[in-house]
Amino acid sequence: MNLKIAVLPGDGIGPEISAQGVAVMSAVCEKFGHNVSYEYAICGADAIDKVGDPFPEETFKICMDSDAVLFSAVGDPKFDNDPTAKVRPEQGLLAMRKKLGLFANIRPVETFDCLIHKSPLKDELVRGADFICIRELTGGMYFGEKYQDDEKAYDTNAYTRPEIERILEVAYQYALRRRKHLTVVDKANVLASSRLWRQVAKEVAQKYPEVETDYMFVDNAAMRMIQDPKFFDVMVTENTFGDILTDEGSCITGSMGLLPSASTGEHTPVFEPIHGSWPQAKGLNIANPLAQILSVAMLFEYFNLMEEGKLIREAVNASLDADVRTPEIQVEGGAKYGTKEVGEWIVNYIKNA
Ligand code: IPM
Ligand code: MG
Repeated sequence: MNLKIAVLPGDGIGPEISAQGVAVMSAVCEKFGHNVSYEYAICGADAIDKVGDPFPEETFKICMDSDAVLFSAVGDPKFDNDPTAKVRPEQGLLAMRKKLGLFANIRPVETFDCLIHKSPLKDELVRGADFICIRELTGGMYFGEKYQDDEKAYDTNAYTRPEIERILEVAYQYALRRRKHLTVVDKANVLASSRLWRQVAKEVAQKYPEVETDYMFVDNAAMRMIQDPKFFDVMVTENTFGDILTDEGSCITGSMGLLPSASTGEHTPVFEPIHGSWPQAKGLNIANPLAQILSVAMLFEYFNLMEEGKLIREAVNASLDADVRTPEIQVEGGAKYGTKEVGEWIVNYIKNA
């Protein structure tokens, strides 16, 4: 297969983990005889510094012209601490989602047995937890009408029927391929937008009798994720609730640095780790490249290249088993490995597989 990949390393640790993602991608392509080419593009704080725009037109064009985007991270503290900043790196991420029509954000919450002790939850609660959060990504409060003056401010949580229908369809497709259990998360006891979600969800559910659908208020879902994460198989929710619940989901597995994600929709899909740009670690060769590398696995799987994805997952598991790990997950007394060394170990594993 020919694969044209837009690579957006972004800020902070982004470039370091990006390099390892690309190396793994190349190794897999070589092994399976795929023809891959890369086009690098700027985004985030890096792009603000260079051209004053966190998602420049040129970057958008490169993304549109590619089969997939391998994205790393954006964000820089110099903008966080400046309330007067007119443009922020995060706006680049939102612009990318909107312009590429990436309405479906797929965030798997998986546990790795050897990292369970890192979870804030009890071992028996979290072991075996495995669910996917499908977050609506281009609607709701993030993009609804906004207003702000010194006395009053609002963000509108608007959703239309087609927006709700299409994300539910994505969620049912995942549920069908998995344990056939879908939880629709909303706040229908208070919000009008949620009542429309629930109404539409009940209609769409009729088309999928083989899937068990249940409906849960978001506050209850937040609690259930802590009390009994194994309850969930596929969860679908609006943009804001999904943002909050996926941070919760990532930390209960004990391994935020290991979780990849995919954003799909109308145009080029984007694959990225769920963690941020960790500016304090920039250039120190300590960031965990596994979430980025697993994003590459998701990329292959998106194109139905399942063996390729499987080999990457196998290599990642082997690296963890061999204690080839970055400092934050290394076992006591274990050898020191940096971002680069972990990536290189995985590339070698793939080459020799
Ligand atoms: C995420 C992030 C983004 C979001 C920020 C960086 C704008 O938290 O991808 O979850 O809120 O969507
Ligand atoms: Mg978030």
